[in-house]
Amino acid sequence: MTAVPGTEPNPALAALDDPRLLGREVKRIAYDAGEIERRVHELGAEITEAYPDGDLLVLGLLKGSFVFLADLVRQIRRPLHVDFLVASSYGDATHSSGVVRLVYDPETTLEAKHILLVEDIVDSGRTLSRLVNLLTARKPKSLEICALLHKHLATSLKYPTRFVGFDAPNEFLVGYGLDHAENFRHLPYVASLK
Ligand code: IMP
Ligand code: MG
Repeated sequence: MTAVPGTEPNPALAALDDPRLLGREVKRIAYDAGEIERRVHELGAEITEAYPDGDLLVLGLLKGSFVFLADLVRQIRRPLHVDFLVASSYGDATHSSGVVRLVYDPETTLEAKHILLVEDIVDSGRTLSRLVNLLTARKPKSLEICALLHKHLATSLKYPTRFVGFDAPNEFLVGYGLDHAENFRHLPYVASLK
């Protein structure tokens, strides 16, 4: 049976019924689970290609990167180790001060290793700039950033993001690890909140 034109299932409307959304309305689904899966697969291939030899340490920035990192590392077909960083930035609710402190610091040495820093989303890029300075001081063999989403507003980010999943719109996005007040991290898609 063919649907009456204009009544085809609309993923954004389907999401309005999603019990995971706490009754909040989703403006639209920015990236659905299938799109994300395909892009993560491609990113994994790019990363596999980019690192011919040497130790590779994939460092996930918690908490936002946990879903992305779990999918990404399973698409990288070379030996690697995984660890995490927890950074806390000081500032008021709306402006980060740019001061970053490591709350959890990996125990492994970074010296002479290829470090791939995995982030959920790059917005102003402040957090990453500080982290890059901090990690560069530990003399890794290389340091690259992989972000699922990039808003390209990162005027303060001197360091380029080598691997980007999607060029994101300047909207507030949740799901696939990204939160709003700790909610929505478990959505299998990325949605834009109203
Ligand atoms: P930056 O230091 O301004 O680049 O902020 C990056 C951090 O802010 C990310 O790791 C996220 O935790 C958070 N963030 C920025 N934009 C969004 C968004 O659209 N949704 C959810 N979290 C965001
Ligand atoms: Mg967050």
